[in-house]
Amino acid sequence: MSETAPPGASKARHTQLFAVAAALLALLSLARHSASRNSRPLPPSVRGGGAAAATPAAVTLRLRLPGSPSDIPPDPLTYAARRLGENADSISEAACGTWQRDYAVQHATVLSGHAPPRFVASVAVQSGLADRVVGVMSQLMYALLSGRALQFASVDGLPDWAVAFDSPHINWTAPPFPEAVLEPLRNRYKGVDGYRHFGDRNYSAAEVHTALYWPVYHFFLVRSDPAIDAFFWDTDLTTQPHGHADVPYVMFASNRGRTYRLWENWHHRDALRQWGMHASDAVRCGFHFLFRPNQATQAAMAAMATPMGRTDALKIGIQIRAGDTAFNASAEVSDLRQYQEIEKQRRAPGQPVIWYFISDSLALRRQAAARWPKKLLTDASSQPVHVDCKRFNREACGGVDAAFRAAAAELLTFSKADYHVVTQDSGFGMLGAWLSEGERRIYAVYRNASRSCGRFEYDSLDTLASSWAGI
Ligand SMILES: *[C@@H]1O[C@H](CO)[C@@H](O)[C@H](O)[C@H]1NC(C)=O
Ligand SMILES: *[C@@H]1O[C@H](CO)[C@@H](O)[C@H](O)[C@H]1NC(C)=O
Ligand SMILES: *[C@@H]1O[C@H](CO)[C@@H](O)[C@H](O)[C@H]1NC(C)=O
Ligand SMILES: *[C@@H]1O[C@H](CO)[C@@H](O)[C@H](O)[C@H]1NC(C)=O
Repeated sequence: MSETAPPGASKARHTQLFAVAAALLALLSLARHSASRNSRPLPPSVRGGGAAAATPAAVTLRLRLPGSPSDIPPDPLTYAARRLGENADSISEAACGTWQRDYAVQHATVLSGHAPPRFVASVAVQSGLADRVVGVMSQLMYALLSGRALQFASVDGLPDWAVAFDSPHINWTAPPFPEAVLEPLRNRYKGVDGYRHFGDRNYSAAEVHTALYWPVYHFFLVRSDPAIDAFFWDTDLTTQPHGHADVPYVMFASNRGRTYRLWENWHHRDALRQWGMHASDAVRCGFHFLFRPNQATQAAMAAMATPMGRTDALKIGIQIRAGDTAFNASAEVSDLRQYQEIEKQRRAPGQPVIWYFISDSLALRRQAAARWPKKLLTDASSQPVHVDCKRFNREACGGVDAAFRAAAAELLTFSKADYHVVTQDSGFGMLGAWLSEGERRIYAVYRNASRSCGRFEYDSLDTLASSWAGI
């Protein structure tokens, strides 16, 4: 410390040193804590691999002593240490296992340059919120198992995650990428609907530095492409992308969820079980690890927060998707009475009942609200806007960020229900039900077909996991 420094400066410097030391200690104790747990650690590649791995010595070297406050870099290690304590209840170890701390530290280590650059850049796809979320959850599992730091690449015209969410544990903001790296992963490829099969997007070596970037395209319009399942079901993810497993940036576009099936992948199932997280919790745990509703989203959730937070009431969530055309068309008549059976079978004597109703059709919301004014909750104030506005409601594209946020708020509110009725060929309600912390009694309905909702007639998670966009 300089002798000419005024006493105040020296005190400030002590405070800074103390803060850095505290962050370091917190980090080391977390690392020790995770290491001492009797669970299998992340695979060697996940720890950064080889000599450059984040040994405490390497970490100490990098934390430089600050000369002045402006000199302190936004240090990702400090960031991880600070954030690790937050959001703890939704991803408790009891339900979500032991990978979160290890991964947050490892992520920060890669970002700070203490481990070799191994990233997965999740490239946003032109899909609704649910498809984007399930795609990202699969990417997160790929990132965990292949030892890569997950970040989100901004794509022109599509809402960034930060529009609706804060990041509680990792810095998921990717630096901007060259357009040539993102362009081949667009859904409308060079003006045509080029989404066909798994991995049919290549980089041209003339346009992209392929020793640095390699694309993975895990996208399909509706039904499963067997290759999409094979990637998560049969493949050793540490060998992917095939022939390019060591490329620094895997550029990964996906609209399909394959986390549940991953627990059957013989290359990884032992490790996944050792982490202590069940297949049915992977999406919920991964979601809350990556995303926390930001202030604006919380504000959008506020109106429903009190009723849907009630623990004394029986809450039944019902999602009816009228179809993509309903975003600007009038609703079909649908009869919700059949879902009364759930209420009859599950309600305790005298227990209050809430139906939380969501639909892409405003007319249907209004109809439902008018028919059950006492027990049915729904937001019938404005026309829902599909996040993929270019395809479904072009004139609403100006409000696409607000739509993204509104969808996020509705998804999280829907997840608070105890029982769920969801439209089978739609990912939104299904995802909300999987995000629920309850037993996940899900009744899938094909459009407005009738079905019985008896006590034991809910659908198996195993079947639901592979239907439509998947989980
Ligand atoms: C997160 O990473 C981005 C891109 O590297 C960087 O610009 C930003 O400052 C980082 N944020 C924090 C809080 O460290
Ligand atoms: C991408 O590359 C693979 C292997 O080099 C090739 O078989 C395939 O035809 C290419 N696909 C496209 C769409 O160019
Ligand atoms: C939306 O409404 C416009 C005008 O009524 C119509 O031309 C268009 O086909 C509709 N779009 C959908 C997806 O139904
Ligand atoms: C919904 O039900 C009505 C009346 O039964 C029927 O006319 C309509 O075709 C159904 N719509 C779908 C999408 O199944």
